[in-house]
Amino acid sequence: MFHRQRPARVALVLAVLFILWYGLANFSAARIADDSFPGGPWKPLKGTTSKSRRSSIGKITVAANSLNSDVIHRAMLTHERHNNVHGYVHHIAYNEAVSSLIENDRLHRPKGAWTKPAYIMSILVAELQKPDEERLKWVFWFDADTAIMNFQTPLHTFLPPGDLNGIENVDLLIASNWDGLNSGVFALRVSPWSVSFMSAVLAYPIYEPAKLAKNKFRDQSAIQYILEDKASPLAATPMKSKDHWVQVPMRWFNALPVNNAFYKNGTWLFGKNMTKEQFDDGTENVFDDGHGGKLNAWKIMQGDLAVHFAGSSNVRDSWMTPWLDRAEAGLPAWNNATAWIAMSDSIRDFWVKTDDEMAALRTKSADEETKKEKEKKEKEKLEKEKARKDKEAKEQKDKDDKARKEKEKLDKAAQEKDKQQKELQQQELREQQRKQKAEDELLATDDKPKHSAGKVLLVDTTKFDKGGQAPTLAPTTSVALGQAPSVSLPTAAAATTGGKDGGNNL
Ligand SMILES: *[C@@H]1O[C@H](CO)[C@@H](O)[C@H](O)[C@H]1NC(C)=O
Ligand SMILES: *[C@@H]1O[C@H](CO)[C@@H](O)[C@H](O)[C@H]1NC(C)=O
Ligand SMILES: *[C@@H]1O[C@H](CO)[C@@H](O)[C@H](O)[C@H]1NC(C)=O
Ligand SMILES: *[C@@H]1O[C@H](CO)[C@@H](O)[C@H](O)[C@H]1NC(C)=O
Repeated sequence: MFHRQRPARVALVLAVLFILWYGLANFSAARIADDSFPGGPWKPLKGTTSKSRRSSIGKITVAANSLNSDVIHRAMLTHERHNNVHGYVHHIAYNEAVSSLIENDRLHRPKGAWTKPAYIMSILVAELQKPDEERLKWVFWFDADTAIMNFQTPLHTFLPPGDLNGIENVDLLIASNWDGLNSGVFALRVSPWSVSFMSAVLAYPIYEPAKLAKNKFRDQSAIQYILEDKASPLAATPMKSKDHWVQVPMRWFNALPVNNAFYKNGTWLFGKNMTKEQFDDGTENVFDDGHGGKLNAWKIMQGDLAVHFAGSSNVRDSWMTPWLDRAEAGLPAWNNATAWIAMSDSIRDFWVKTDDEMAALRTKSADEETKKEKEKKEKEKLEKEKARKDKEAKEQKDKDDKARKEKEKLDKAAQEKDKQQKELQQQELREQQRKQKAEDELLATDDKPKHSAGKVLLVDTTKFDKGGQAPTLAPTTSVALGQAPSVSLPTAAAATTGGKDGGNNL
């Protein structure tokens, strides 16, 4: 019957809808949970990539020396599970690959810490040789003592969005805690800047050996120095490379299992085996360490990507084992498929704010640069002006000196000439006197005067220089007949008596 068939049809339609809904839900759940945990005995992972998809994001880790241990292998398996969900290739180094060129590490620690920048650099360089479409775009460094707590969170969640131009130069994302920057987990763009940065980290023991000897950490201290120290070569540029790196919240990918690493009395909490109370439940309830229970920004919360057991080296097993048990259980509160979606808005806000800050920083440093450039030009101009004036002054002085010397020379020549002239006059005078005398003598010896009138001796006084001491005499001698003329010549007399004052005239 028509009216009796109706409920059956409705039931059929409902059944089909249910199957479709259940199948689809099942299918997407299967996709999200495509992360079959291999478990079993440890075998070193060599680039764990899911076959179906390969992400353009990769991971890098060094698990050499004491980090090549069971608990670390378990931690790496949490990564493998994460990698399988998202298609991440994970490069893991199990052997040291560098030596120290100089013995400068007072603790003679193994070189795994320096294998880290070398290994990262080698992968970056290799990727940069590939065609663009085959290349990894970003790599995430993870210390070996990190465990993934939420396998569903994709790493691209944290990367700078491509639509914000101000942050397109960002090559490094790194978090910081009470110790400053923490190099336990960081993201690096596959770029030439990142290669150069890693090479600077690797070379740190060579160019800052004194600092290294004092540093508590190794590669971390190097990163801190290069990025933040006033003496770092990066600090010499106005922008200080600040458009290349961003400090991000710890909880994004480097959360810690403790709210405070120190008790109120200063004791290092992380240096002892973990107690039951210290096994954080990932909520706002925190272990009573005497600090008053204020929640810190680096403590892991449920749904966060990863936990980092930084500094727990001697008691690592105790801290890591319960956390690894929890990670492997994949509990919904921790392995939360929507946590990253819930975070996306705040992450976006972070990048928008960073974009604005960088634009402001760029303007500021450009202004500084312009100002510096202007000051430099101004200084150069002043210096040039001064140099020109100095040159002019020197030239004037040289000219004056020359003129003075010339004048001196002329004066000297004139004096010389004058002297010669005077000598000549004196000579002439003496000659005249001598002649006169001879004539007079002749007259005196001859009884018969030869002249009817006396002879007059005239000295032309104009021949004497004004400044010279002309003889004061104008020897006009009247000579009477039969009388010998008497001539008195004071100058000549003075000269013959050795007059010193008149020396100039002779
Ligand atoms: C669908 O869900 C059921 C029950 O949860 C499960 O047993 C089954 O394996 C799932 N199917 C797929 C394809 O994941
Ligand atoms: C500091 O406090 C912790 C916890 O109360 C305690 O275990 C530790 O012994 C104290 N250390 C010192 C040096 O007093
Ligand atoms: C930590 O616990 C382990 C056993 O779980 C023990 O062998 C070790 O001595 C403990 N270390 C400290 C510092 O208490
Ligand atoms: C997963 O995360 C979202 C967003 O933070 C939250 O609302 C939800 O309750 C979480 N689910 C579980 C099972 O904890």
